[in-house]
Amino acid sequence: MDKKNIVILSGAGISAESGIKTFRDGDGLWENHRIEEVATYDAWLNNRDLVLEFYNQRRKQLLTCEPNDAHRQLVILEEKFNVQIITQNVDDLHERAGSKNVLHLHGELLKVRSTADERLVYDWKIDLVNGDKCEKQSQLRPHIVWFGEPVPMMDAAAKLAAKADIFIVIGTSLVVYPAAGLLHYTDYTVPKYVIDPNRPVVSNIQPIEYITEKASIGVRKLVERLMVE
Ligand code: APR
Repeated sequence: MDKKNIVILSGAGISAESGIKTFRDGDGLWENHRIEEVATYDAWLNNRDLVLEFYNQRRKQLLTCEPNDAHRQLVILEEKFNVQIITQNVDDLHERAGSKNVLHLHGELLKVRSTADERLVYDWKIDLVNGDKCEKQSQLRPHIVWFGEPVPMMDAAAKLAAKADIFIVIGTSLVVYPAAGLLHYTDYTVPKYVIDPNRPVVSNIQPIEYITEKASIGVRKLVERLMVE
């Protein structure tokens, strides 16, 4: 029998137990900055040094973090299912845990790209500074989808969501579109699970089961069930 397709939409909550702060849980600030100060195209135009330094810090922090049990448990699902992860996270913790198919909707911290040609993407593990250029001699920027920018991977993600036999949402407040709309691309008969200690609001979606736990616990429970069903 063909393997079933599991599609997973993950957000900042899955990496919280690895020590990476979520965006909307705390004081409204993201690592001491308002989001519009550091994560918008306007910020890049008006305050390039601050934006570069902010992402340099995030990159350094990421290199000190490890995948947690939630990332690792998802890898077990690959023994029985075709598993596709769609993540809003810019960290590489799913990959480091061993997940094979990871689509990054909002970019990747460990990559940079040309400002002249968005197809020129490079691996990057050191500080990115004003003056670092691509092969076409234009400034390099973080490979991040900032607020106000298009989400180039959205079409691919929607196609994957439409093929899901089971859809799992982990650790996202589901307030940022278009990512939050991915659930609506699934067939209405597809079982859907939401793992999050603070139930995000999901409207007009059935059947849905909430697992109101932090990711490490909730993912373990669900994986145990899915592996024996
Ligand atoms: N386990 C699971 N979920 C958790 C945990 C945990 N240990 N801790 C917090 N959460 C949940 C919160 O309850 C919340 O619902 O994770 C979610 C985090 O929500 P956000 O901070 O809004 O993060 P996310 O949904 O990923 O943000 C979406 O917004 O700023 C942009 O581009 C950025 O990709 C990001 C997007």
